[in-house]
Amino acid sequence: MSIRIAIDGPSGSGKSTLAKNIARALGLTYVDTGALYRAVGLYAQSAGIKKEEASQITKLLPNITVNLLYSDGEQKVFLNGNDVSSLIRTPEISMYASAVSAVPAVRKFLLEIQKKMAHEGNVIMDGRDIGTVIMPDADVKIFLEPSPRERAHRRWLELREKNIACSEEEVYNDIVKRDSNDKNREVSPAVAAEDAIYLDNSGFTAEQTAKAALKIINDKLNRSVL
Ligand code: DC
Repeated sequence: MSIRIAIDGPSGSGKSTLAKNIARALGLTYVDTGALYRAVGLYAQSAGIKKEEASQITKLLPNITVNLLYSDGEQKVFLNGNDVSSLIRTPEISMYASAVSAVPAVRKFLLEIQKKMAHEGNVIMDGRDIGTVIMPDADVKIFLEPSPRERAHRRWLELREKNIACSEEEVYNDIVKRDSNDKNREVSPAVAAEDAIYLDNSGFTAEQTAKAALKIINDKLNRSVL
């Protein structure tokens, strides 16, 4: 039986870690949809578009090709044939991704690639609109939402590990701003699907979050998936 799981939630909630762990445990393909928006954000930045004028990306979309490829179970993101998987992980590109993700033409542009991956099944996808738009008929929908302070702390630790200099307060302010952009945009706002199950993983380790999510998945599928 093909399983399709949607994980949504705000920036820094631990969605990608959770989705990767579940993908590994259940043998599913993990699709990180934020990487697609980040790749378009990177293109916008390199084209000299200001974040405040993100809609200007619309006319450049015909020049952009974004692909997801998998090697050793790891997702790689290609922008016009170049592997940009690392380049898209900076705080600056996070803000660009948030800005371009509010542009309707960008969402439309990235819809097909996501729907295609969703259709292939045996998949766990994470993002903001997976349960509402990309896989409204997913078998299980989880909305992961720890507190903003907790998310800022985790994101700051991640950035520090990658030697990206910034203060925890800066990361917190970025998170609050991005949350507000993502929740209040007109198209596909980052809100939970009606049938999503909330998981507040504040104070949880990655293992505890995975365990809680696997319980939700087991209960929902009404059978043991492990
Ligand atoms: O998950 P992330 O931080 O890599 O996402 C980057 C940005 O992309 C985020 O600010 C919101 C946007 N995004 C979105 O609008 N819809 C998705 N399915 C995934 C990400």
